[in-house]
Amino acid sequence: LQHFLTTEGLSSTLLTQILDTAESFFGVIDKSVKKVPLLRGRTVINLFFESSTRTRTTFELAAKRLSADVLNVDVGTTTVKGESLLDMLQNLQAMQADMFVIRHSASGAAEFFASHVNPGVAVLNAGDGWHAHPTQAMLDAFTIRRHKGDFEPLRIAIVGDIRHSRVARSQIHAFNGLGAGEVRVVAPATLLPTDIESLGVQVYTDLSAGLRDADVVIALRLQRERMQGALLPSEAEYFRHYGLTESRLSSAKPDAIVMHPGPINRGVEIDSALADGPRSVILEQVTNGIAVRMAVMAMVLGTQAEAAGDSA
Ligand code: CP
Repeated sequence: LQHFLTTEGLSSTLLTQILDTAESFFGVIDKSVKKVPLLRGRTVINLFFESSTRTRTTFELAAKRLSADVLNVDVGTTTVKGESLLDMLQNLQAMQADMFVIRHSASGAAEFFASHVNPGVAVLNAGDGWHAHPTQAMLDAFTIRRHKGDFEPLRIAIVGDIRHSRVARSQIHAFNGLGAGEVRVVAPATLLPTDIESLGVQVYTDLSAGLRDADVVIALRLQRERMQGALLPSEAEYFRHYGLTESRLSSAKPDAIVMHPGPINRGVEIDSALADGPRSVILEQVTNGIAVRMAVMAMVLGTQAEAAGDSA
């Protein structure tokens, strides 16, 4: 694992190894172990060109729990001076960075960085445009495995704005790669991507049918920042047809878990009673993000160190 840019095409063995490595870090996130020294002396630079609450902070916490030095670059003040992305990257590399964590509104931004960094420097994708958010998908898979065990018998329903969602794409690739029994998407036709038929999912436009006998139900928000006017449903209309509530969840299995990558729009894609209720694992997802991001960072730097003949 030289970089971590997408879950598409990753083998079941590698996906499982990420989850197993994250499991091994669980003592660090429940604080029974304070820190591990795996990234001591390494420098991790967070470059977030889009806002983030969960991803940026859990990457930072993960790096700190691995004993790395972490820098959060204020890209707002840097880019205003007209510097190109490439020049910014080269200057940050000159400070001996070992790893970049990047979020950008342009699909392909993380690949662009990965193709321009020096040998031995790793790039982790923290979300690029509509394309991918691979660590989110892996923390979701980790959360599902902790509650449900093996993926093979599971029906997983992803409900909402699939079209604009990098999270949904990365989840679909990860869950299928891990051998999930059935991955469903549930959305109005206008919020489905044009290539949906090629993604290996069952497509539902009716919420009740899409939730039937589901083991896992994942709500996604309407990503208004990526929508054109014609696609924009009103919040009230959307909630009426696709908003998740306790009563609508009655067609799912009684022990179904409810997930959401955040941020939540209460009363739009999910009702507060469900988001805060006993079946919700939404805050657990956030906590699990620390262990999963520790796992990915440790595996990536382990690969880089091996390639350099280094034992660090
Ligand atoms: N799930 C997610 O990516 O949240 P943030 O935008 O807060 O990082």
